Amino acid sequence: MPEKSRTPDENLQREFNRWAEAGEGEKMEGHHRNITEKTLRRMDLRPGERVLDLGCGSGWATRLIARLVADGPEGFGQVVGVDISDEMIRQARAASKEFENIMYVWGSATQIPWEENFFDKMLSVESFYYYPDQDRALAELFRVMAPRGRMFILINLYRDNEYSLQWVDKLKVPVHVRSAAEYVELLRKHMFEKVEYVQIPDDTPTPDDYVTKSFHSVEDLKAFKRQGALLLMASKPDFRSPAPGYTVY
Ligand SMILES: C[S@@+](CC[C@H](N)C(=O)[O-])C[C@H]1O[C@@H](n2cnc3c(N)ncnc32)[C@H](O)[C@@H]1O
Repeated sequence: MPEKSRTPDENLQREFNRWAEAGEGEKMEGHHRNITEKTLRRMDLRPGERVLDLGCGSGWATRLIARLVADGPEGFGQVVGVDISDEMIRQARAASKEFENIMYVWGSATQIPWEENFFDKMLSVESFYYYPDQDRALAELFRVMAPRGRMFILINLYRDNEYSLQWVDKLKVPVHVRSAAEYVELLRKHMFEKVEYVQIPDDTPTPDDYVTKSFHSVEDLKAFKRQGALLLMASKPDFRSPAPGYTVY
């Protein structure tokens, strides 16, 4: 099908299927694990919780979460991994056969294939800036998060880390480049509360002879890692308790 007649989601599916077939799904664990583990510590996952991994790729982070929520007094915590690439989903399922508390679903952030008010926590690693319609994705997240559910959006590409801008032109699909402040505003516009952000440095060592195609130099890659990824955190309000001064009849 010619590129012009494909939808933005179909282009993303095609591009990330290509990544998956080239083995990039598994390789991303090496690139994202350090910042993701730091994020998981902030997520304070508890046994019994229901978690969404949006843009789960090959599912390595989904499996880390599944272990943390597995067994608890409130039952068996569940993790749902959603990705627009059916090939990523196939690889994630194949690598997660021993897990009883993971379900991988092929679908888009613009139409999350799940019921409303369900997830206690949400993680999205290096995926959010690809979503063509981020407003629509946030409306969907608002729908599927449980009241008081907490979201954790981790991205390496954002305006405040100038080094990350070096690889925008190398990507084959369009991306959003916003600042941390713009993301905070966007989340608030969608009625999320307790919106905050931190920068998460990647402190894995980079060998001096490391070959990088994404950055102008190894020094720039090191500076990018030192400055770190952007972690956005936000909660869905608790609609079960009316706001002060407001009476529900
Ligand atoms: C850079 S990869 C990161 C994958 C994984 N989170 C990781 O860290 O290894 C981005 C992922 O987001 C997925 N993705 C991109 N756009 C999406 C969308 N609109 N809806 C759902 N997933 C999407 C891609 O298919 C891909 O697997």
